[in-house]
Amino acid sequence: MVPVTNFKPPFNVTRAGHIVLRVNDLSLSKAFYTEVIGLLVSDGDPDTVYLRGVEESCHHSLVLKATSGEPTCERIGFRVFLDEDLDKAAEYFAGIGRDCRFVDIPHQGRTLHVSDGVGMPVELVASMPRLRRVHDQYHIHRGAGALRMDHFQVAVPDAAAAAAFYTGLGFRISDYFVDKEGDTDPLGIFLYKKNNPHDIVFLTRPGPVLHHFGYIVPGASNLFQALDVSNALGFNNVLERGPGRHGEGHSLYVYLRDPDGHRVEILPPPYQTGDIDDEPIGWHRGNRHSWDPPRREAGFTRSQNSKALRFSPATKVTDFYRWKTSWLNVRCLPGARCGRSRLMNNRLHGKRGVRKNYFIIASTREGKACYQHCVCQRMNK
Ligand SMILES: [Fe+2]
Repeated sequence: MVPVTNFKPPFNVTRAGHIVLRVNDLSLSKAFYTEVIGLLVSDGDPDTVYLRGVEESCHHSLVLKATSGEPTCERIGFRVFLDEDLDKAAEYFAGIGRDCRFVDIPHQGRTLHVSDGVGMPVELVASMPRLRRVHDQYHIHRGAGALRMDHFQVAVPDAAAAAAFYTGLGFRISDYFVDKEGDTDPLGIFLYKKNNPHDIVFLTRPGPVLHHFGYIVPGASNLFQALDVSNALGFNNVLERGPGRHGEGHSLYVYLRDPDGHRVEILPPPYQTGDIDDEPIGWHRGNRHSWDPPRREAGFTRSQNSKALRFSPATKVTDFYRWKTSWLNVRCLPGARCGRSRLMNNRLHGKRGVRKNYFIIASTREGKACYQHCVCQRMNK
């Protein structure tokens, strides 16, 4: 059954706030999230990078931590309204026998680590250092120009049970879906505290595991911008699904995989929620307005009409052309000098020596390493 919201919760959560990811290659992940997603670097050290969206004034909404082990999600974070809500939360979690302790975290106010209803590591904070919003500084926006953190989606064995823990904390349900009309057990539940359809979403799947986290971008064109930029910079195969439209929330979306395989969704702003008489909307396979690019069938690469689509001998691929295509994705962009690009630069331009004030980004394996090296140089200038 769909759980019911407790409108007098023990403490006041306001929104999904931030997420902490462990990554294997910090500089490469930093490049992905700044150049493709469009986040800003708020701070960092050799092992950690703190990022935020262009209209966020909180210090960070994404923390990347370097690890030589498995890249994982370390923790998701929610904001509470007042500092005293942290004390109320500590009392609540202690009362129900859950793990709960105050910790010191850089660039955050008092932080409470807790374990939620499915054992997921969560941290609650009321405050962070404030930084300037740069939504109006268009000349520094990059990639998709992500505006702000929006939501987490988590796979759990029982979505309704996981959601019930959060409705007990005052989360409301915007949408849920079942398989077919008449079913009563929800397979997905969308919960919110801020005024859009999702702060956290639970799907009935093996878990608990993070499925993805989402950032709001200004509009639909930013989805394509992210894909174009990721391709231009040599982040191959980052597009996992989309662009498409969700039934729940009615938002357009693209799912990307970061260099460690963490899934991030970017989406334009979905619809508004929050009136007291907003009721959960139930969806099933028969009433959902959603669309997705169809998966490419194996036969797609075969011609529909072999005679009509046959290439003339003049366009036959030669060995020389094959050699050339291995460099077709090589691009020069304004940036810094990079010694590692010398070989490709010579082949591309047919010259000796490195072209100063340019570096090369390529989608080849060699070029991708070069890209990582060069982006670090450029950021350090
Ligand atoms: Fe999502």
